[in-house]
Amino acid sequence: MSTTRFLTGITPSGTPHLGNYAGMLRPAIAASRSREVENFYFLADYHALIKCQDPARVQRSTIEIAASWLAAGLDPAHVTFYRQSDIPEIPELCWFLTCVTGKGLLNRAHAYKAAVDKNQASGSEPDDGVTAGLFMYPVLMGADILAFNAHKVPVGRDQVQHIEMARDMASSFNHIYGAEFFTLPEAQVEDNVATLPGLDGRKMSKSYNNTIPLFAPREQLRKLIGSIATDSRAPGEPKEVEGSALFQIYQGFASEQETQALRAAYAEGIAWGEAKQLLFERIDRELAPMRERYEHLVAHPAELEEILQAGAAKARRLTTPLLRELRSAVGLRNLAQAPVAAKAKAAKQALPQFKQYREADGRFYFKLVAADGTLLLQSLGFDAPKDAGQAIGRLQREGEAALAELLPRLQPLDSAAQARALQALQQLREAAEAQG
Ligand code: TRP
Repeated sequence: MSTTRFLTGITPSGTPHLGNYAGMLRPAIAASRSREVENFYFLADYHALIKCQDPARVQRSTIEIAASWLAAGLDPAHVTFYRQSDIPEIPELCWFLTCVTGKGLLNRAHAYKAAVDKNQASGSEPDDGVTAGLFMYPVLMGADILAFNAHKVPVGRDQVQHIEMARDMASSFNHIYGAEFFTLPEAQVEDNVATLPGLDGRKMSKSYNNTIPLFAPREQLRKLIGSIATDSRAPGEPKEVEGSALFQIYQGFASEQETQALRAAYAEGIAWGEAKQLLFERIDRELAPMRERYEHLVAHPAELEEILQAGAAKARRLTTPLLRELRSAVGLRNLAQAPVAAKAKAAKQALPQFKQYREADGRFYFKLVAADGTLLLQSLGFDAPKDAGQAIGRLQREGEAALAELLPRLQPLDSAAQARALQALQQLREAAEAQG
């Protein structure tokens, strides 16, 4: 077995801010140093085109994000750092995956569903303003991950569904083409990372327009920190740390001891102006050395280009042989070579699949999904994974009898849906018998 591979994509569609740094860059870079594993970091610039159709901005953001990662300490000699659009095998794999992914599966993707819901709420056509790019986004993301056979994908909660879809695509492809071409990737959700509030106290986010750019020049950083919202307590009046954006941002940078000192200063009535000065100095102390490197790289984009090209060459040492194998597996072959069809296994009929997973509510669920992605059965929550597993086992072995008994543990099914589910269970049993 090879070492564990971690893979992370960053979409270059804006300027990195302090929230991105504390919540993503800093922990990811720390992990890349300490882990005895292989790390892949890439700029998801094909993804950027989905939300940003301003070419100058895509280019600018690619420069800023690449420079930020490198300035913050990502070591391209130790990790594989590349730009998605330098890897032609990714869009090629995206197409192979597109052809084994049920449209129904994509209909259920959160980002697409949210767009449809919004249209419905405003009385527009369901797909109004929805590009096929937004709809296909999970497949492109699946290709990003599967092109490197990544084992672990560190992501925010909002991305977990995409990793599950990548697993579905991997297992469909493996199943249809009859071999373990792909490892099934797993999401790794880091719940303990800092989320920083922005200037107005809401979560720091581009969409709230309340961000502090990570590498704002020193004087701009001072000014922005000066504009963080505070209450109107006068100097000398004790201040609340609870709900203070200033305090929370400080905490995102300071040691435990420094944080305690600021807590005490709040209780003693530190003036807001003075607290802002402390925050400014603390952040600047961490960022100033990085800022220098950042400014150098942004001023010398040819250096960035060279680093990214080297990263792409390293990345393609993996993707080129994989895609060669996959092209042959699906039947895109050099016709002059002796037919390998005889030795390749015939493509199997695609089967329905059980999927077991855990939801944010902490309970365990399963579902039965047809090969085309149609949902056939959806369980309610179980307290333990073993209970969900047992229910699946019974459905697999006993079919109709088990289904009748388990109905109260499932989301409601009309009789047509029950018939479809039974047919799928039957198909699974036949396939299992055929395998012996
Ligand atoms: N969709 C991710 C985001 O918006 C970025 C991304 C693209 C990604 N491809 C990926 C993350 C592959 C992990 C793996 O944050």
